[in-house]
Amino acid sequence: MAQIIGGLATSHIPAIGGAIAKGLQQEPYWKPFFDGFPPIHEWLGKVKPDVLVVFYNDHGLNFFLDKMPTFAIGTAAEYRNADEGWGIPTMPPVAGCPELSWHLVNELIAKEFDIVTCQEMLVDHACTLPLKLFWPKDAVAPVQIVPIDINTVQFPLPTAKRVYKLGKAVGEAILSWKSDKRVAVMATGGLSHQLEGERAGFINKKFDQQFLQSMETNPEWATQFSDLELVEHAGTQGVELLMWLAMRAALTAGSAGVRKVHSNYHIPISNTATGVLALEPVA
Ligand code: DHB
Ligand code: FE
Repeated sequence: MAQIIGGLATSHIPAIGGAIAKGLQQEPYWKPFFDGFPPIHEWLGKVKPDVLVVFYNDHGLNFFLDKMPTFAIGTAAEYRNADEGWGIPTMPPVAGCPELSWHLVNELIAKEFDIVTCQEMLVDHACTLPLKLFWPKDAVAPVQIVPIDINTVQFPLPTAKRVYKLGKAVGEAILSWKSDKRVAVMATGGLSHQLEGERAGFINKKFDQQFLQSMETNPEWATQFSDLELVEHAGTQGVELLMWLAMRAALTAGSAGVRKVHSNYHIPISNTATGVLALEPVA
């Protein structure tokens, strides 16, 4: 059976793509953010995942307000990135893993998750930038991906409780995949940020730090909040931290807890409180 070798999470601000393209990683503005990654690169070099299940939120590139699934999964052999504005370079296509995608579709639908299946799926900065951040030396990250999109764009959003259940079901499904592949689960988004309205620029360090701590010791902590409460605590775009919750829930499948490999928290990059995290399941 397949193994879950770890969980990854990072913020995904488009400006990061510009900084990478211009080689600004050592500039004073960017260094405290990029310095969060080398210990995770070293760990990834050792654990070498083959497949990466990516919880991410599309921002209008693949899904728009006219058709907005709550949960959608890619089953393609390849995922293309496309120009979505922001002026960031378009990334080369990333390989998919249709075999794991279809296994997840079958298992999730059997467990009553009415997930949208996408045989074609364009992936935006939320999916592509983390691949660049975690595998900076590779033109294309050396993993096959299975993207799972969770709506954080148009209300009503799925509840944190539902997202947790989805993540756990994804974890269980990975462990029942008849394969010798090493699978990692990645989340992208957050932490607290709000891009528009009266609270534009809103950041909540206290909440972010409680949330980061919960990832290690109390994975269900965030499920106590309704979506409006999450907006209040983390900002209208800070609800992207639901992806982290899904990733962490996936790691509860078949493990008693987690070991933190590394984390970093830095305020701000653009309008966002940035976080990065790597976790390893402990039997
Ligand atoms: C920013 C943050 C995001 O999560 C995003 O998707 C786009 C922009 C920002 O802070 O600039
Ligand atoms: Fe975002």
